[in-house]
Amino acid sequence: MKHTAHNLPPLRLAVLASGSGSNLQAILDRIATGDLDAKVSVVISNNSDSFALERARKAGVRAVHWSEKKASSRELFIRGLLDILREEQAELVVLAGYMKLVPPEVVRAFPGRMINIHPALLPKYGGPGYYGMRVHEAVVAAKDKESGATVHFVDAVYDHGEILMQRRVPVLPDDTAERLRERVLAVEHELLPAAIAKFAEERRRGST
Ligand code: GRF
Repeated sequence: MKHTAHNLPPLRLAVLASGSGSNLQAILDRIATGDLDAKVSVVISNNSDSFALERARKAGVRAVHWSEKKASSRELFIRGLLDILREEQAELVVLAGYMKLVPPEVVRAFPGRMINIHPALLPKYGGPGYYGMRVHEAVVAAKDKESGATVHFVDAVYDHGEILMQRRVPVLPDDTAERLRERVLAVEHELLPAAIAKFAEERRRGST
């Protein structure tokens, strides 16, 4: 087990994703280059054909398809999800494009240890209905001069918890929502690993 200067083992991450998993890939890439002192212990997706599961397998990371539908009841879904997170001794749960609301029972099991990345400058353009392209369409329609990405702690309300880190991007006058999405996504891929590193650093200093 690689221990860096502070002699703590790498931060154990559980990543939840629903889609292509490019944010997951950014985390895996920075771990591989040694830029991020963490370990992805498991990737969980509610979507059996989420490319995030494929990325996990390619990186030799445990990949689990788990959803309320697969569990056949909400109670069994919650219990199974908690079992996986505990089995893997997750120290930080990372929602990286996870399109479901995490059940409060699960949020409560990880107080101050669950983060989400959102492709806008929260608290603007957050909450139910603001996901994916809808976020960027709203920013373009509002003719905002800037947008960006936010990593925040998760509580039981969508896109609502304390902000950990945020990064801004310009919105250009002729931007389409797609152009803006690409610009924000590129920043997300820098921001999420940086936010995890900040969390790990605060843990090292014993403040979390
Ligand atoms: C990202 O834009 C993220 O901010 C949002 O969903 C998207 C996930 O993209 N929550 P990917 O699956 O990480 O490529």
